[in-house]
Amino acid sequence: MQTVDVNSITDYIAGTFENKDDQRASEVMIKLIQALHNYIREVNLTHAEWDAALQFLRAVGDKTTDHRDEFMLLSDVTGATSLVDILAGLTSPEATAASPRGPYYLPNAPLVEQGALICREDEPGTPAIFKGRVIDLQGRAIKGALLDIWHNADSGLYSNEDESQDDINNRGRIHTDENGEFRVRTIRPRPYPIPMDGPVGAMMTAFGRSPWRSAHFHIIVSADGYEPITTELFFSDCEYIDTDAVAGVRSSLVHQPIYATTERGKTLIVDHQFCLRK
Ligand code: DHB
Ligand code: FE
Repeated sequence: MQTVDVNSITDYIAGTFENKDDQRASEVMIKLIQALHNYIREVNLTHAEWDAALQFLRAVGDKTTDHRDEFMLLSDVTGATSLVDILAGLTSPEATAASPRGPYYLPNAPLVEQGALICREDEPGTPAIFKGRVIDLQGRAIKGALLDIWHNADSGLYSNEDESQDDINNRGRIHTDENGEFRVRTIRPRPYPIPMDGPVGAMMTAFGRSPWRSAHFHIIVSADGYEPITTELFFSDCEYIDTDAVAGVRSSLVHQPIYATTERGKTLIVDHQFCLRK
C-alpha cells in the first residue's frame, strides 16, 4: 500500500509523468506539478480558494470564442506571454524583441505600396509616418520582407470593434524594397484598455490593476528563410509607458517621439530597424 502525505504526494504524482520517449514533455510536466504543489503548500490553499480558482478558469473558458481568447488575455495580464517572449529572444538578443499580439489582429490587411496611407484621408488624430528597414543578424538588408501593421484609431478603438471604421482601417501589409526599406503613412496610436468585460477584467478590477496598455503599433515581420517576429513599438512620452497592463514594453521597442512638418501638418516620424534571425 502506498499512502501519501503533504510532501510525498509530489513525487507520487510527478513520477507518473516520466516519459522516456519525450524527455522534454516529462521535464515540463514534472516541474509543473512540483511548482503547483509547492505553491499550494506555501500559501496553505483552502478548499474555498481552490474552488474559486477552478470557477475562475471555467469562466475564462466560457468567455472564450473564436473571436475572443480570454485564455490569451489571462496569459497576457499574468506576464506569461511576455516572459515567454523575453526568454525566446535571449538566444540572439540583437534580433528584434517580441511583444504580445493582442486580440485585434486581422489577417489579410491590404497589401500596399511604399508611402501608402493606411488610414482614411481625413483620419482624426496626429499624422504619422512609420518607416524603417528590415535586416538580418549580420546587418544585411532583407528585401521582400513583409510587415503586417495594425494599430488603433484616435478614439482608442481598433477597426474590428468599431462600426464607424472599415475593417481595413489602420491596417496594412507592405513589402520591403531592394534596400530592405518600407514606409507607410498613418496616425499616432493611442493608449487603450484591455477588454474588461470578462473574468480577467473582474480579476483586474478586484486588485485595482490598471487595464491600460501603453500606445503602440503592432507589427508582424516575416521573410522567407527567417523566423517571423510579432512585436510592438511604443512611445516614451505615453503616460502608461511604465505601467503597461501586459508587460509588453521592452526598451529596444520604445521610441522618443520625433516630429516633422509634412503636407499633413505636424507629423510623428517613427523610423525603426527590425532585425530577423534565420
Ligand atoms: C491586449 C493587447 C493589445 O494590443 C491591446 O490593444 C489590447 C489588449 C492584450 O494583450 O490583451
Ligand atoms: Fe493593441
